[in-house]
Amino acid sequence: MGILVTGGAGFIGSHTCIELLNDGNEIIVVDNFSNSNPESLNRVCRITGKSIKIYHLDLLDLESLEEVFLVNQIEAVIHFAGLKAVGESVQDSLKYYKNNIATTIIICELMQKYSVKNLVFSSSATVYGLPDTVPISEGFPLKAINPYGRTKLMIEEILQDLYISDNEWSITILRYFNPIGAHESGMIGEDPSGTPNNLMPYITKVAVGQLNVLNIFGNDYPTIDGTGVRDYIHVVDLAIGHVLALDKTLKSTGVKIYNLGTGKGYSVLEVVSAFESATGVKIPIKITNPRPGDAAICYADPKKAEKELNWKAKKGIIEMCEDSWRWQSRNPDGFKINEESENPRLIYSEDFLIPNN
Ligand code: WQD
Repeated sequence: MGILVTGGAGFIGSHTCIELLNDGNEIIVVDNFSNSNPESLNRVCRITGKSIKIYHLDLLDLESLEEVFLVNQIEAVIHFAGLKAVGESVQDSLKYYKNNIATTIIICELMQKYSVKNLVFSSSATVYGLPDTVPISEGFPLKAINPYGRTKLMIEEILQDLYISDNEWSITILRYFNPIGAHESGMIGEDPSGTPNNLMPYITKVAVGQLNVLNIFGNDYPTIDGTGVRDYIHVVDLAIGHVLALDKTLKSTGVKIYNLGTGKGYSVLEVVSAFESATGVKIPIKITNPRPGDAAICYADPKKAEKELNWKAKKGIIEMCEDSWRWQSRNPDGFKINEESENPRLIYSEDFLIPNN
């Protein structure tokens, strides 16, 4: 029986594939590579010494996706696939509603048809909007403030209604805070297309010389130094959280919701300082206007996940910075495979074997 991972070539998906394989799972990845690169899965195979079955397809392609359920014995689905840029979701909201919500409905319909009723869903702390207080626990008011966040909130509600209509479902919703860092090998990491929206990939692009200066969005917030505070969590800690969430999902029914964060907030300036200490690389900064929609402070109360999933983030901010830098400095252009290197492998419903090292 295999675990179907949608969006498995992405930043969190690829790191979770490593932990799933290391935990002895057989995994099947479906990805359209619209915001990821198959090379990340090549490297997952090299890191783990395991193979992955991969389908290069779009979740909106019902016929191709149904073939995956027909051909494979699927025990559970971990659903990462989705668009996640807040700014882009404001500019093109329909694209986000269609891509994030329609694909989730399609995957759930096929799961129901093939009696696969174990689902782990990738949600986000963005469903809390601008929190009135911190730390944030799962019972806090939900008030998404952008189309991306609203897609996550709507999907959470769809999944809860799905369980009400069919109590055989076991659904675990994971609300991520701010995932950063990379696998210790330096072989996989965050590889946003174009100019990064998020803080850490922007910092590493400055550090590697591809961007000149880090623009800090506002320094008048009611925080330790005026800059925004967030709960940065190492992507490997997050990935391990998915393995533990999967185990729990397979042993129960019902809908369970967990915040996956460290429970500690760092300001932008504190992250910059940690990065400079960890790497020895100086990051030029410039204070600019606050980014519309940004919360001043946002960090998790992770006690529920610690208690019920027996999960706790272990890696600190220095390790997150070290690992982010190792990935970026060894892969200045991310997974982009240069023309002169071997052609990116066209992958379609074939075993993704361990490539020649
Ligand atoms: C962090 C802090 C910025 C960039 C977003 C999404 C959320 C999730 C994670 C998907 C803030 C500051 C940032 C820069 C800066 N994504 N910053 N200069 O906004 O907390 O969360 O990414 O699930 O849904 O909302 O993360 O990394 O963009 O910002 O000063 O160039 O860094 O103001 O205080 P955010 P972020």
